[in-house]
Amino acid sequence: MEMRDRQDLTRRYPHPFVHELQLTTAQKVRAAVLGTVLFPLRVGLAALFFLIMWPIARLRFAGLSEEERAQPIQGWRRWLLHTPVLLLSRAVFFSLGFLWVRVKGRQAAPEEAPLLAVGPHSSFLDILVVLPTGLPTVVSRSENATLPVIGALLEFNQSLLVRRTDPDSRRQCAAQLRERLTSNGRWPQMLIFPEGTTTNGTALIKYKPGAFMAGVAVQPVLLHYPNKLDTVRWTWKGTSWVQALWYTTSQLYTNITVEYLPVYTPSQEERADPALYAENVQKLMAQALGIPATDYVVESQVPVRKLGCLSLPTEPPARNALRLLQHAGVSDMVGILNVMIDRSQSGQDGLIHSDQLTSLLGLTDTQTATQICALYSKGEHVELRRLAVGLAAASGLLHVGSLIDTAFTLHDGGSKGSLTAVEFGDLLGALVGCAQPHYAQLYKEMSSRRQPTRDDLQALLTEHPTYQKLLSQYFQPEEAGQADTTPLANEKTKSHNKALKNGTALSNKKAD
Ligand SMILES: *[C@@H]1O[C@H](CO)[C@@H](O)[C@H](O)[C@H]1NC(C)=O
Ligand SMILES: *[C@@H]1O[C@H](CO)[C@@H](O)[C@H](O)[C@H]1NC(C)=O
Ligand SMILES: *[C@@H]1O[C@H](CO)[C@@H](O)[C@H](O)[C@H]1NC(C)=O
Ligand SMILES: *[C@@H]1O[C@H](CO)[C@@H](O)[C@H](O)[C@H]1NC(C)=O
Ligand SMILES: *[C@@H]1O[C@H](CO)[C@@H](O)[C@H](O)[C@H]1NC(C)=O
Repeated sequence: MEMRDRQDLTRRYPHPFVHELQLTTAQKVRAAVLGTVLFPLRVGLAALFFLIMWPIARLRFAGLSEEERAQPIQGWRRWLLHTPVLLLSRAVFFSLGFLWVRVKGRQAAPEEAPLLAVGPHSSFLDILVVLPTGLPTVVSRSENATLPVIGALLEFNQSLLVRRTDPDSRRQCAAQLRERLTSNGRWPQMLIFPEGTTTNGTALIKYKPGAFMAGVAVQPVLLHYPNKLDTVRWTWKGTSWVQALWYTTSQLYTNITVEYLPVYTPSQEERADPALYAENVQKLMAQALGIPATDYVVESQVPVRKLGCLSLPTEPPARNALRLLQHAGVSDMVGILNVMIDRSQSGQDGLIHSDQLTSLLGLTDTQTATQICALYSKGEHVELRRLAVGLAAASGLLHVGSLIDTAFTLHDGGSKGSLTAVEFGDLLGALVGCAQPHYAQLYKEMSSRRQPTRDDLQALLTEHPTYQKLLSQYFQPEEAGQADTTPLANEKTKSHNKALKNGTALSNKKAD
């Protein structure tokens, strides 16, 4: 039941990964004039402070061995360098226009709450939050360590760096995280952005359970940017980071408020189930912010929402391709689908060029095919099978049985009547519209007795309580009238949170 509510909720909310800054002409002129002066001045000053900080931050580790670096820093290194680095980092952000930082509430001591969970994550500038919180340790992507200012701060405070693509590194990081969080104050407080990626702030996305695995108390921290112009945000699409920096520095100053919420101590049930714990903290923070808690996440740089271990893209490429085809005046979709399916079945050329696609579709201009290719790859090619299966699923023109037949036949290499793991992964990817990082898990469940056959696939997609939603909900046409449904969704958030406060925990798993 709760699972349904949550999914409906996500369906009603468009994903928050786009931020378009709307400026009036006056604001544009002002930003251009002020930016021309302030941007170089401020970024130059920030760079200067950073350069001064660089050797000081490095001094903290000078002459230490690898083992010593893996322990909490002690002695003069711990206290002597703290103030200079804090002041210099403050100067960096002061230069960028964060003249003051408003603080609401009280920060908990590390013994009360070893973990600070900060949200919503809006921008790279959010890292400013480490200053009012007294330079806690953070968890970050290893790529971040090479960034100016941020990189130096990361190293200075012995941050945990994860290589996100490396499962070993992630496992190791989880172990270190647990050690630090349960060290009873030997290690300093830790700060995380549990969303793991930035959004435009209109909804909270699913929290990563990693830091909640230790089951320690957490203090939720809200970040607000109460400005007339929302210049700070930088997310998947829309404003670029250069624009975010330009428009932020071209404001005379930028407001930021850090708000500490009361410490949240996990229940027994939450300790045992990090995903549940993360979800409940997410809901609590969403309620405090007055925005919905959704289950969107970003995977392989594509915004998706989760259905079991499937990742469903929020903007399915096939749906956009369908729109492009309709726009180009294609009326016989069934005919086109058949052509594509026959051509893929004949097994020749997996990838086809946009020019070939143009003639295959019988189009007069090349633009539509080029745009369709761009939905699937950076180049001018698209895998025809992928396009055919995706369009067949998104258009709803085939019966479920023939859709499954088509997808199965096109992926069953050598017509052996069953699918290998890789074929199964490709099939799901084609059906859903993006690569499926966790298909192996599902394949394992399905193939306990034998390699999955067409009927196994049909059973999965039409009978499995979770995956049948793929056909029954995901491929349904988009709902109209979002404005009407918003208050309803808000009601649901509230009722979620009521249940939450009572400690009657909600779990996705239960509904499965
Ligand atoms: C933020 O995302 C929401 C949901 O997609 C969207 O309606 C809104 O326009 C976005 N805000 C900006 C400033 O782009
Ligand atoms: C992070 O910095 C603060 C202030 O310098 C310090 O108290 C704390 O020990 C540092 N953390 C680590 C892991 O060095
Ligand atoms: C640093 O890493 C975090 C994730 O840990 C990410 O949210 C943030 O955007 C990164 N910062 C930059 C500047 O890329
Ligand atoms: C900053 O916040 C104050 C209110 O606290 C507001 O009056 C002011 O306009 C804000 N500044 C900007 C640049 O939006
Ligand atoms: C929730 O808590 C209130 C009082 O705090 C209580 O009256 C109510 O029965 C509780 N509901 C559930 C479902 O536990």
